[in-house]
Amino acid sequence: MNVAIGLLGCGTVGAGVVELLARRQDKIAELTGLRPEIKKVLVRDLDKPRAVALAPGQLTQNPDELLADEDIRIVVETMGGIEPARTYMLAAIQAGKHVVTANKDLIALHGLEILEAARAAGVDVMYEAAVGGAIPLIRPLTEHLTANEITDLKGIINGTTNYILTKMTETGADFADALAEAQSLGYAEADPSSDVDGLDAARKLAILASLAFCTRVRLEDVHVQGIRSITAADVAYADELGCVIKLLASGRDRHGVLSLHVGPALVPKHHPLAHVSGSFNALFVRGDAAGDLMFYGRGAGSLPTASAVMGDVIEVLRSLRLGVSGRATRMILPDKRVAALPDEPVRFYMRLTVADQPGAFAAIASIFGVSNISMETVLQKRAKRGQAEVVIVTHATPPHALAHAVEGLRALPHVQAVNNVMPVEEDPA
Ligand SMILES: NC(=O)c1ccc[n+]([C@@H]2O[C@H](COP(=O)([O-])OP(=O)(O)OC[C@H]3O[C@@H](n4cnc5c(N)ncnc54)[C@H](OP(=O)(O)O)[C@@H]3O)[C@@H](O)[C@H]2O)c1
Repeated sequence: MNVAIGLLGCGTVGAGVVELLARRQDKIAELTGLRPEIKKVLVRDLDKPRAVALAPGQLTQNPDELLADEDIRIVVETMGGIEPARTYMLAAIQAGKHVVTANKDLIALHGLEILEAARAAGVDVMYEAAVGGAIPLIRPLTEHLTANEITDLKGIINGTTNYILTKMTETGADFADALAEAQSLGYAEADPSSDVDGLDAARKLAILASLAFCTRVRLEDVHVQGIRSITAADVAYADELGCVIKLLASGRDRHGVLSLHVGPALVPKHHPLAHVSGSFNALFVRGDAAGDLMFYGRGAGSLPTASAVMGDVIEVLRSLRLGVSGRATRMILPDKRVAALPDEPVRFYMRLTVADQPGAFAAIASIFGVSNISMETVLQKRAKRGQAEVVIVTHATPPHALAHAVEGLRALPHVQAVNNVMPVEEDPA
């Protein structure tokens, strides 16, 4: 039996879905007993050249041709953005259609509303492609690891910033040049803010943490710091310290209290996350029974993302075949407290611009002494006449103590700038 699909959007991901479905259609029919078929494809511009061949009449600019078509059982949303994607998705759900989406923005901001609507309508809403491209993350967290209490998530979940930081590390380029190259190659958008300011990673972390920690994480619960302030000097100092700089997303659940953070960090070169380069993504998950797991793969791209979308479509087909649709929608779970700052001690890197004067270092050391923070490594270089650059790595320090010390350093007349403060990852156990 054929199952008609309506595809919202035929850009990078949508075209990948068309291609992969055509390639695997017979196999999917063999595996599920149902043959998926793309009936209509919604786009903005009918005359735009497409990466895939579509039959005449398959493209439309009218959403009702999909949403009001009773034949269409599954709507695949690869348009992106909040509106009109949210309205179309809710209309599809209300019309009893199952929905598969790659839209992390929509799921991070309106996931609850959409899942509630799906539960009320008894349909499936699946979003494996919204986080981590080809890497299976959503279903492992919601199904395979459900017997675990998950305590930690840590990873690289934004390919654009990873590409930029990898370029800076490999070539010594500064941030602006590495960003310009990423834009010219299509790895970064013309307006890169969502990626470089950490928002994209924060949205994905909010989705992952909600699932892993069985609660509802709001975007504003995630403390976010981007990578715009990282300089070629920071990358070079990190190298001297045996590390690379990565944008890490981390979430912890300590007895029901969460801490959620996206920001740049120094990662030791022999740490597995240090080797995740370019547009690849990786996520560590720690469960009380499973122990440590690492998920790794292509975090974006046409076919990698289509692989995750089609995995969801096949799951929807299986449910249709078995008559168990709607079971994929999760219960709404209780809120948990979110800590303002994580309280576990970690090592910190900081780069200070300091007046090259007698007594400057003693003044800095006294601030560390008063805050009860000991220094593990100190590098001092003369930046230019009358100015020195001091890089300090602390021993493990509670973040609130470090914040207090940074305040003290900023107030010192000798310290002209506290340029970057970043955690230093521990070696993996
Ligand atoms: N690109 C990736 O590697 C990747 C990875 C994971 C997740 N995602 C997610 O997948 C989604 C799609 O991303 P993408 O990179 O494929 O985007 P894209 O290349 O910009 O494609 C968007 C498609 O949607 C259509 N569209 C957009 N707004 C529309 C509207 N108002 N009415 C009708 N059609 C509309 C566009 O039509 P036209 O072609 O006519 O302009 C285009 O075909 C996003 O949610 C993104 O976050 C992308």
